[in-house]
Amino acid sequence: MSRLRFGLIGTGFIGRTHAIALNASGAVFGERFAPVCEMLADHTEEAARRGATALGFARGTGDWRELVADPAVDVVDICTPNYLHREMALAAIAAGKHVYCEKPLANTAQEAAAIAAAADAAGVRHMVGFNYICNPLLHLAREMIASGELGEVYAFRGSYLEDYMSDPASPWSWRCDRSLAGSGALADLGSHLINLAHFLLGGIARAQGSLQTVHAQRRDPASGAARAVENEDIARALIEFASGIPGTFEISRVATGRKCGLDFTVFGTRGALEFGQERMNELRWYEAAARAGREGFRTILAGPIHPDYRAFCPAPGHGLGYNDLKTIEVRNVVRTITSGAAGWPDFHEGARVQRVMESIERSHAERAWTEVAP
Ligand SMILES: NC(=O)c1ccc[n+]([C@@H]2O[C@H](COP(=O)([O-])OP(=O)(O)OC[C@H]3O[C@@H](n4cnc5c(N)ncnc54)[C@H](O)[C@@H]3O)[C@@H](O)[C@H]2O)c1
Repeated sequence: MSRLRFGLIGTGFIGRTHAIALNASGAVFGERFAPVCEMLADHTEEAARRGATALGFARGTGDWRELVADPAVDVVDICTPNYLHREMALAAIAAGKHVYCEKPLANTAQEAAAIAAAADAAGVRHMVGFNYICNPLLHLAREMIASGELGEVYAFRGSYLEDYMSDPASPWSWRCDRSLAGSGALADLGSHLINLAHFLLGGIARAQGSLQTVHAQRRDPASGAARAVENEDIARALIEFASGIPGTFEISRVATGRKCGLDFTVFGTRGALEFGQERMNELRWYEAAARAGREGFRTILAGPIHPDYRAFCPAPGHGLGYNDLKTIEVRNVVRTITSGAAGWPDFHEGARVQRVMESIERSHAERAWTEVAP
């Protein structure tokens, strides 16, 4: 089978991460997972040309529609701000291209479901960039939960805390605008946490949420004028999985001091698991059966015995990084497309995540528990 040719749109924070992963996938996972970096699009011709040269792409264009229509592009890889995902994904699907899109898939659950349905109808493969669940240790955590090592799981506690907007002087950006970003911390960070919770424990059935905007106005960097922040800085929620397991979420973009605080604890009758993305090569495991006086969490270090680690490094404890998670994700995208097997997290999962976000928002407005729409 010939190598898949990727067209990347956007070269900001996550676009560069995708480019690094596209270039690394073949070296890490072997020739059959090596995509061709065919074309790159950015907001101007100049930025696209510069980006293409710097990031190893054959060609660049200032017009993303040209990339979508190009017959030499098999997969459209969308790394632009949230408000562009829908239009770009639908155009790519209409052109018969496979689509790999950053999170959140769209700005509303309805839009996300429509994109998923269009992709299925066109028979193209689709995947959302929920990279954190590619961590080998999270696969171990899931296996330990599923195999019953924790006993009966009775609670989940998850948070995603960052401080990229904790300074009141941080400028207004598209992330503060409802029509451009959708919700605030919930869409940007909460989408990852919800996907992670789904990955470990299955679907979320209901939620009771509470939203808080700490800084109601921010300075527009273009005009210098104060502009309203239209979405939340912090989201909190009580949740209940379809299995009946209860849990809590805390999500913040103003969590002073926290940089990538995607953390969780899963509590079971025979043990507990703890993880934090800032120490992403460590999974902490508490076994309730330990001898009296010897109890305590112990740290499992990531190593070649865990899925995908060996492809990067033969020695345990040396550690993977954030960009390596994207490389694993790119391998998954290539594998899904070339094998024809269903991949996950696909656009349906993108829509499911969006429905949980919306139920948290709705429950804040109604001050009541809300069911996650089926
Ligand atoms: N998976 C993750 O861990 C992760 C991390 C960061 C961002 N993201 C997601 O990635 C997306 C982009 O976020 P970012 O932080 O990289 O943003 P960014 O502002 O750093 O980069 C956006 C890029 O899109 C380009 N762009 C904007 N409009 C365009 C247009 N009309 N045509 C072509 N290119 C255009 C910009 O020039 C820029 O290169 C968001 O949806 C965000 O939620 C995901």
